[in-house]
Amino acid sequence: MTTASQDLPKLFLPNIKHIILIGSGKGGVGKSTLSANISIALGKTNKVGLLDADIYGPSLVKILGGENYRPELSKDKKLIPLTRHNIKCMSMGLLVEDGEAVIWRGPMLFKAISQLFTDVLWGDLDYLIIDLPPGTGDVPLTISQKVNVSSAITVTTPQNLSLIDAKRALSMWRQLNIFNMGLLENMSYLYPQDKEMKKINLFPKGDLDTFLQTEKLTKLAEIPFHPYIGLSAEAGQSFINSYPDHEITKIFFDIAKKIKKSCPL
Ligand SMILES: Nc1ncnc2c1ncn2[C@@H]1O[C@H](COP(=O)(O)OP(=O)(O)OP(=O)(O)O)[C@@H](O)[C@H]1O
Ligand SMILES: [Mg+2]
Repeated sequence: MTTASQDLPKLFLPNIKHIILIGSGKGGVGKSTLSANISIALGKTNKVGLLDADIYGPSLVKILGGENYRPELSKDKKLIPLTRHNIKCMSMGLLVEDGEAVIWRGPMLFKAISQLFTDVLWGDLDYLIIDLPPGTGDVPLTISQKVNVSSAITVTTPQNLSLIDAKRALSMWRQLNIFNMGLLENMSYLYPQDKEMKKINLFPKGDLDTFLQTEKLTKLAEIPFHPYIGLSAEAGQSFINSYPDHEITKIFFDIAKKIKKSCPL
């Protein structure tokens, strides 16, 4: 795997203890939604930053309810990130007007990515979670080559159509020598509305579990589909803060715990 960025020196980020990538081969599997809720869960006990690296289709500003925030410059000319739910967030969505397309490629793209790390007032962070765009394109490649990544988490939905793409993401982590923490199976089933109701599969169960067993990979969690997760994201509210006692909130805290165990401070 080669990009023009691989010749550039690695960025030195002494104030950030762990950088964790959240990616997928496939679009729309819930990377941004899960990144936000996992970061907020981690942020209860740690200093957490969330970088929306989906340069071409940023969505974290909406999910975090920061549409009215315009980053100002600090005294030393660094962008002050949005702070919501005790986490700091930077996104292209804070820097371009709503609906405006970013059309950078090549050097412009590499420069923009570097600036999201170096020209933002992140301060001291225990964890910087990076919400990647779908696929295995320039952005994940550039980030992996520019900064020291502690590990990657791959998001997939249960069906084989998503597994095919998840395998591509896993292959990318392998080729880039990035430790693969495990997979998150999102929209595993429709969350039962009452105790009598059975779990309904929204997608056909594919070969994910067999694949994980064969490859000795970990499934970090199964996150059900719940309309409130989507509604919270639409409203810019945090699901876990809105429903602190919910069973799904416990799943997000459990994922945060696994991240802390895998990337100790
Ligand atoms: N577990 C869930 N339950 C209900 N809705 C969900 C769940 N996970 C994600 N969604 C919804 O699915 C849609 C896609 O999610 P999201 O934008 O997080 O995916 P993505 O993988 O980041 O997409 P992209 O590849 O475009 O960046 C959103 O409307 C989100 O609210
Ligand atoms: Mg996204």
